[in-house]
Amino acid sequence: MKVGVIGGGQLARMMIAPAVELGVEIRVLAEEEGMSAALAASAVGDYRDLATVLAFARDVDVVTFDHEHVPQEVLRALVAEGIAVHPGPDALAVAQDKLRMRATLTELGVPQPDWAAVRDAAELDAFIAAHGGRAVVKTPRGGYDGKGVRVVASGADVADWFETAAPEGALLAEELVDFTRELAQQVARRPSGELVAYPVVETVQRDGVCAEAIAPAPRSAGRLADVAADIGEAIATGLGVTGMLAVELFETTDERLLVNELAMRPHNSGHWSQDGSVTGQFEQHLRAVLDLPLGDTALRQRWAAMVNVLGGPAEGTLADRMPAALAAHPSAKVHTYGKAPRPGRKVGHVNVVGDDLDDVVYTARAAAAVFTD
Ligand SMILES: Nc1ncnc2c1ncn2[C@@H]1O[C@H](COP(=O)(O)OP(=O)(O)OP(=O)(O)O)[C@@H](O)[C@H]1O
Ligand SMILES: [Mg+2]
Repeated sequence: MKVGVIGGGQLARMMIAPAVELGVEIRVLAEEEGMSAALAASAVGDYRDLATVLAFARDVDVVTFDHEHVPQEVLRALVAEGIAVHPGPDALAVAQDKLRMRATLTELGVPQPDWAAVRDAAELDAFIAAHGGRAVVKTPRGGYDGKGVRVVASGADVADWFETAAPEGALLAEELVDFTRELAQQVARRPSGELVAYPVVETVQRDGVCAEAIAPAPRSAGRLADVAADIGEAIATGLGVTGMLAVELFETTDERLLVNELAMRPHNSGHWSQDGSVTGQFEQHLRAVLDLPLGDTALRQRWAAMVNVLGGPAEGTLADRMPAALAAHPSAKVHTYGKAPRPGRKVGHVNVVGDDLDDVVYTARAAAAVFTD
């Protein structure tokens, strides 16, 4: 069996090891030479170009993704050619556009922040006035790591975005949610319908970027875990998602769970599972898109912590720091992405599992810190 992954980033890279273990051949269509997943890159080219993607896809049994940016026309052309695409175009459309996501989740009856599509500053001002004087504005497409998200007090604060939005294009306005913490719920679903849920995790974002995750989310046993898993299942089933689905959630000060956004692929909030779960999310994604039976999602030990290596060393490479990190923290599992250090860039992460929460968090932070200045 041959899986083709579109996109050569770290998510594609981390599918390589489980593919080898499962005896699955993996091919990657990378954006350029020397990317994170270069080891499995069989093609380099533009994922927006149908001819390039078709040539790549014809040589594999199923196509999946490292990101959500492949245009709908290209996805639909693949399906029309009889190529298996997971997740499929209909599901992916919801993850590609935050306005469409909000509208679809409203139809599904999933709890989410108050929202509106706003076409100009006046509409946004009306939304702000109705929501306590502030709002979060998002560009519907192409945002990542907090780019394309602004907290505003006036329509004028996003005048630049209104200017560049297409004539009929709108921005997404959301209430500024009063949350105590952010959580993430992952589920995996096969084309034949089997679904498994991971334990809900707590995530910490810094400057709009995921910095840490703890599994399971502290103080989540019982109702919180059940509600989160139900939301994940309702979305995966309702949208027909195949592969891994991540649902980013807010836990509000009045103890509700609201959906922030969706990712239909392995997700940073699930990296802990590589070392902390019986079945890591990258293996699970491959099993799901190949319609193989799904794996146990239970934790191997009581707690798992994941800390991102953001930026990397100011001088030299991650490899230079590796001996010191491994020597000081033998329980830490270090994962590197083959990317050059640059301020704020995700270049790797560290997972630690164990029975003591403070200890796993401390060790993961300390080991990750060895790689940054
Ligand atoms: N409605 C909201 N109320 C309060 N905070 C919000 C809201 N929407 C987003 N945020 C904050 O901004 C962060 C980034 O928002 P969002 O996840 O929509 O953007 P993104 O750039 O697509 O993120 P990612 O880094 O996951 O790709 C959230 O993790 C949260 O901390
Ligand atoms: Mg997000």
